[in-house]
Amino acid sequence: MAFTYSEKVMDHFANPRNVGEIENADGIGEVGNSKCGDIMKMYLKVDGNTITDVKFKTFGCGAAIATSSMATELIKGKTIDEALKLTNKAVMEALDGLPPVKVHCSVLAEEAIKAAVSDYYTRQGIDPEPIVGKIEISHDHE
Ligand code: FES
Repeated sequence: MAFTYSEKVMDHFANPRNVGEIENADGIGEVGNSKCGDIMKMYLKVDGNTITDVKFKTFGCGAAIATSSMATELIKGKTIDEALKLTNKAVMEALDGLPPVKVHCSVLAEEAIKAAVSDYYTRQGIDPEPIVGKIEISHDHE
């Protein structure tokens, strides 16, 4: 099988943005992909309602790394509500597409953001219920 990746995917895979951890993060989300077992951790720094910083660590494939990298760029400086609206489709479009067999990889980034916001809400004493239902937390399906 031959896959073609866009230049943007290759660029974000080779030079991923916002890799790492945030010390004293305001929200941390960890999700796992049930199809392949890959894991992603997302860290958020929040000021008021704005995501001032975001970093990620991915133990996963190149498409997962590229989509997380792009997703962090798309939510940095945005409000929490805007970040929650980011879909894996929008991330893929920003990367000029992914091969069909790699679409599931992009879901990891979307879920990691939701998990991190959910953690942030929990820490703030806000009920995260509306978003947690949509997330596969990695340690829940071992
Ligand atoms: Fe696991 Fe891509 S193959 S996230």
